[in-house]
Amino acid sequence: MGNPDLPAPEEVVEELCRQAKDPENHRYSRPSGMVEKKLKEAIAQWYYQRFKVQLDPGTEVLPLIGAKEGVAHLSLAFLNHDDIAIVPNPTYPVHFDGVIMAGGILYSLPLTAENQFIPDFKSVNPEVTKRAKLLFVSYPHNPTSQVVDRKFYEDLIDWARSKELILASDLAYSDIVFDGYQAPSILQVPGAKQGGAIEFHTLSKSYNMAGWRIGFVVGNKEILASLAKTKSYIDFGIFRPVQWAAIKALTGSQECVKRNVEIYRKRRELFVDGLNAIGWRIPKPKATFYVWAKIPVQYNTLTALEFTTRMIKETGVAASPGTGFGEYGEGYVRFALVAPEEKLKTAIGRIQRFLNVGD
Ligand SMILES: Cc1ncc(COP(=O)(O)O)c(C=O)c1O
Repeated sequence: MGNPDLPAPEEVVEELCRQAKDPENHRYSRPSGMVEKKLKEAIAQWYYQRFKVQLDPGTEVLPLIGAKEGVAHLSLAFLNHDDIAIVPNPTYPVHFDGVIMAGGILYSLPLTAENQFIPDFKSVNPEVTKRAKLLFVSYPHNPTSQVVDRKFYEDLIDWARSKELILASDLAYSDIVFDGYQAPSILQVPGAKQGGAIEFHTLSKSYNMAGWRIGFVVGNKEILASLAKTKSYIDFGIFRPVQWAAIKALTGSQECVKRNVEIYRKRRELFVDGLNAIGWRIPKPKATFYVWAKIPVQYNTLTALEFTTRMIKETGVAASPGTGFGEYGEGYVRFALVAPEEKLKTAIGRIQRFLNVGD
């Protein structure tokens, strides 16, 4: 799993503890409450600092019980039974699971080595785009680690013009970037908001708050209002101490994020260089803490699931089969660098023996 092993920032944990002691915070969260308002302001401020995109905290920001929750409910809010959602494949599973649960029709856009794991929107049949309501993109990408530049979003907005599509970008890994690369936001493209774009974020990765369940979505206000309404039938918002702590994370020093990224960068060097040295050739990812690896030739008669099952049984090293992210992930496995360097070194040693046996 992409489950960060590092701790949340100390000052954020302290704020959570402090706020948890106040009985006022034990009540249901209210959409118009004080902390709820302050959190939306903190998100808008973070967004401006990060992407230079101006958001109205009142209408263009919606906090979520994790980005995953919001993505799943987006499909529920908008898809009727004969509506199509265009979803790249492989992808973070809730992008397609949400569509399936809502009873929508899934249209997969293959991401392959041939297209550099970047979807070719123009290849979608116009009959499909006519019936499509929703399109997902997500870069830096889980599971392939691929990244895009701003031009990708410009082309997407341009292509989507005159189509009735919600453009949902999942930017969970905006901060986990290396070698000077900066992840752009779809909302940096002029007219994106009006063109139906929204963007999901999470505090799970940048601040190691995966178990706290907090994320947010920003962008087109009509789409956010409908999602908020759907959510109001289902949940009562976010535990208030978690909201206070999120404000601390978003408005405090961002040194903790830099420290995180440096740890992941070192793990990436060690693991990717290590695998290359033992003959498993993989490129170095520019972002995320994932490594997307083609199954080595000596095992390529196995499916990804068979390969990962055999690897964990024989080495104790767990990787996700590429097909866990959609059928176009066949032939690949995804490693998540969520273990300390010592463990990664042990893993490389064991993988080396495993690969040699397979020769
Ligand atoms: C692309 C992507 N979006 C969202 C999430 C989950 O975010 P959250 O913890 O806020 O639900 C993940 C977690 O792995 C992810 O990879």
